[in-house]
Amino acid sequence: MKRIKQLIKSSVLAMQSYQVLAANGLTKLDAMENPYPWPDDLKREWLKVISSVEINRYPEAGANALKASICKALKLPDGMDIMLGNGSDELIQILALALGGSDRVFMAPEPSFVMYRQISQTVDARFVGVPLMPDNFSLNREAMLSAIAVHEPSLIFFARPNNPTGNLFDENLIIEIVQEAQGLVVIDEAYYAFAKETLMEYLPRFENLLIMRTFSKSGLAGLRLGYLMGSRDWLVELDKIRLPYNINVLTQKTVEFILGHSKLLEDQAAAICAHREQLYAALAAIPGLSVWPSAANFLLFRSSNQPALEVFEGLKRAGVLIKNLDDSHPLLENCLRVTVGLDTENHRFLEALESLI
Ligand SMILES: Cc1ncc(COP(=O)(O)O)c(C=O)c1O
Repeated sequence: MKRIKQLIKSSVLAMQSYQVLAANGLTKLDAMENPYPWPDDLKREWLKVISSVEINRYPEAGANALKASICKALKLPDGMDIMLGNGSDELIQILALALGGSDRVFMAPEPSFVMYRQISQTVDARFVGVPLMPDNFSLNREAMLSAIAVHEPSLIFFARPNNPTGNLFDENLIIEIVQEAQGLVVIDEAYYAFAKETLMEYLPRFENLLIMRTFSKSGLAGLRLGYLMGSRDWLVELDKIRLPYNINVLTQKTVEFILGHSKLLEDQAAAICAHREQLYAALAAIPGLSVWPSAANFLLFRSSNQPALEVFEGLKRAGVLIKNLDDSHPLLENCLRVTVGLDTENHRFLEALESLI
């Protein structure tokens, strides 16, 4: 034990590992997954495709066929390319390894996606979180610009829409920040499938801009595939850090297959957005709760009369798992986040919540 403490870097010793609660048969509304399974005939077609995959061989190291299929679907601006990651988490890690170090600062508005801070710690970069506005979680322009001037971050993340607040940061302000910042700005469009908003058109205009997306939220969380879009000059450098074979064969084949059936995922995202609006209205009607509008597949709400932990535990006893965000950031006091699920799951959640509140 003593030797472990001596050998592991102090920055790692100081970290907490990322906690994922076991779902164990609970209705799972905690992780922004797509709740819809594939139709049986599509599953059969898919099984045929992956039955020919040679799992005794390494995957194609650059996943070039898959990259080409994704690029075709994206309609990238001229001169732009993509890089694939084992989930966007891996891409965040690659960016952090390339731009981090003890003399570097990473920045993001907060509350936001926790991995920005978590991964910064692993590369010894100092992380500066700039608080969002407390009422509607929009960016605080003055605070962002002055923090950038003071700390000169090498890397800035904006999740758009933001997790866990669900809002879309103002486009003009982000572009102003991209212009002001000397460092790289990464726009994380993990929830693009629901928001349908992108800053992709700006990629050719700004050398310090990259955009990241994932297949996780639109329906393929189990496959782990994210991609980073930007100029080849950036991607060539970052690719030096990417481990060979980071995208496994089953992911490569499955994503290529589903890109040929993209309407299914688009229809599912549209259904999720419709259910999100119903869930929003239902939550807004419950006395003692306030809920924020969302452009993603989840909703953030605050319990005013009852501690969030009690609400979370009560829901869990009733068989529903959501995310308790109280304690995660001062702006999220008594806040909880619920992922939009199947209609039946949303009703189960609402019934359990109403009987608790
Ligand atoms: C904003 C944001 N970016 C990235 C991710 C991680 O995505 P992936 O599953 O591709 O690692 C999440 C997951 O919750 C997220 O909310």
